[in-house]
Amino acid sequence: MAALLRAAIRARAKAYAPYSGFPVGAAVLAGGRVFAAGNMENSAYPLSVCAERNAVAMAVTAGHRRIDAVAVVGGEDQPAPPCGGCRQVLAEFCAPRAPVIYAARGGRSVTTDVGALLPDAFGADALRRAGARTAAEVDRPAPRVRRSGRGQDSR
Ligand code: THU
Repeated sequence: MAALLRAAIRARAKAYAPYSGFPVGAAVLAGGRVFAAGNMENSAYPLSVCAERNAVAMAVTAGHRRIDAVAVVGGEDQPAPPCGGCRQVLAEFCAPRAPVIYAARGGRSVTTDVGALLPDAFGADALRRAGARTAAEVDRPAPRVRRSGRGQDSR
């Protein structure tokens, strides 16, 4: 977790947070590699993206679907816990027991796990129970739809 925290601290230094003045850095461990990012705000405020979600996006873009550990650095003295939206995003790719450490810039930290941050999380199982498509199914190539008969275009 120490290396992950160091990566989160480095990412925090690159955060783009001119509107809130609240830079955050996050690092996730996936496939033995570390992916780190800061929060990235926008003058159209709601378009801002949290550090955790940016780091998760980097890991997923590199082909990983399982995140093993998470570190977040935000806040001066009090460690800033991940927001609710980020907890949901972490729950998508982390096992409930995946460790999460969140720390203040000053060094105080809290160690917990994804299941404790988001108990009874909404997930693919809820979709499956409702008969909806889940991530595994969405990943499979869609069946080819044969088009025939009238109305078919000539291309
Ligand atoms: N922020 C994060 O990056 N992660 C969180 O979990 C909480 C909030 C960012 C969003 C925004 O850029 C700034 O912190 C203030 O809310």
